[in-house]
Amino acid sequence: MEKGPIRAALVGAGERGMNCYAPYALTHPDEIQFVAVAEPDTTKRDLFSRKYEIPRDMQFVTWEDLLIRDRFCDALLICTQDSLHFQPAKQAVKKGYSILLEKPVSNKLDECIELTEYVGKENARVHVCHVLRHVPFFKQVKSIIDSGVLGTVISIQHNENVGFFHYAHSYVRGNWRNSTVSSPMILSKSCHDMDLLNWLTGSTCRSIASFGSLRYFTGKNAPVQVPGRCTDGCADENRCPFSAYHYLDPENPFRYIVYSGEDTMGLVKELKTGPYGRCVYRCDNNVVDHQVVIIDFEGGITSAFTMCAFSHETSRTLKIMCTHGEMRGHMERNEIELHDFLTGYVAKITVTHSDSLHSGGDEEIMRDFVRWVRQKDPGGLSVNTIQNAVNSHVMAFAAEESRLSGKTVQINEFYRKYLK
Ligand SMILES: NC(=O)c1ccc[n+]([C@@H]2O[C@H](COP(=O)([O-])OP(=O)(O)OC[C@H]3O[C@@H](n4cnc5c(N)ncnc54)[C@H](O)[C@@H]3O)[C@@H](O)[C@H]2O)c1
Repeated sequence: MEKGPIRAALVGAGERGMNCYAPYALTHPDEIQFVAVAEPDTTKRDLFSRKYEIPRDMQFVTWEDLLIRDRFCDALLICTQDSLHFQPAKQAVKKGYSILLEKPVSNKLDECIELTEYVGKENARVHVCHVLRHVPFFKQVKSIIDSGVLGTVISIQHNENVGFFHYAHSYVRGNWRNSTVSSPMILSKSCHDMDLLNWLTGSTCRSIASFGSLRYFTGKNAPVQVPGRCTDGCADENRCPFSAYHYLDPENPFRYIVYSGEDTMGLVKELKTGPYGRCVYRCDNNVVDHQVVIIDFEGGITSAFTMCAFSHETSRTLKIMCTHGEMRGHMERNEIELHDFLTGYVAKITVTHSDSLHSGGDEEIMRDFVRWVRQKDPGGLSVNTIQNAVNSHVMAFAAEESRLSGKTVQINEFYRKYLK
């Protein structure tokens, strides 16, 4: 590819597209430049267009409007909601774009498989946003495993501590609360973790079993007679950690997702009328608030994964048990601790990263993506092609089948069911 920035278009100027990935173009104008946007929300489309100087004739309302044209730039970032990934991605493959595709590839397994096969047939390039592979902390964990200093991986305990308010925001009141409009929790939230485990073990899943439920955020657990909205004079307001009034705290990380203006009156009005003011015991949510998954990998490696809403911090923590040593890690604190069995030596490592979200992963994924588009050959980059990503999605769908059926699922048999 010629020198100069790659030229890209954004489909879906929402939280991920506009706020997490696109800013990389402002700080690295020599690497990537946005030349078009497709976004139905006028305010967001205008904001993006102003920031990235998109000419009027390159501002599209929907992905269909943009993709009806012949390819006019190098790359497309598809950052729409879960159910709006498959169709634009398929069309973009047809047009010959290099694609950064938000996860999940689709919220339907047959579409995940269809798209992966289509990408293979067209020899296309689709990089899925399994951002954890790009997080400096996990890159370090992976390089320690690969160095062999701890011997061979035998078992991994991995925890996704969602955080009580993050869970209430996204999975009780928010976009991912109901599997019929988005995806089951194991896909929408934890396909990242399934992917991470594939990557860290360097193996593939043989069989999987899962348990879990929506245990707490239902009407029957309301502590008192509560109204439908926190703003309607709830008697439990001062005792409720999930109260929508916590959005008024300027430090609340979700405040600007609820309301982008600075004025408190506007925020309160949004809470009185919008989805984020609803009582957590009176929502139309159905996704699990805790789930465990146990996995048997090829080569006899095992893993136990826990996703839980009920944690004070939003973090990922893990313990990797190897033949000659053990590694513990805390992603958000960027701490890794190594224990050598023979010598008793303990090493503590602190990983550094940029300020971008996901412990620096959002910036790193953009850097890796740009390199990938430029080089054509992914080489040693930690790319996450759709061919890799689909394995994590198959695991997530299989875990959900196990949770609902109460049976262990053999991955090969499960996968075969969906192959034509
Ligand atoms: N990789 C990660 O770590 C990570 C983290 C969070 C969310 N996600 C995924 O990212 C995706 C986007 O999440 P988000 O929080 O940015 O959602 P969002 O709702 O903020 O953004 C989606 C945008 O798509 C726009 N849109 C809707 N219909 C469209 C159409 N026809 N054409 C073009 N644009 C359209 C919406 O108006 C919205 O602005 C989801 O699939 C989510 O699961 C990934």
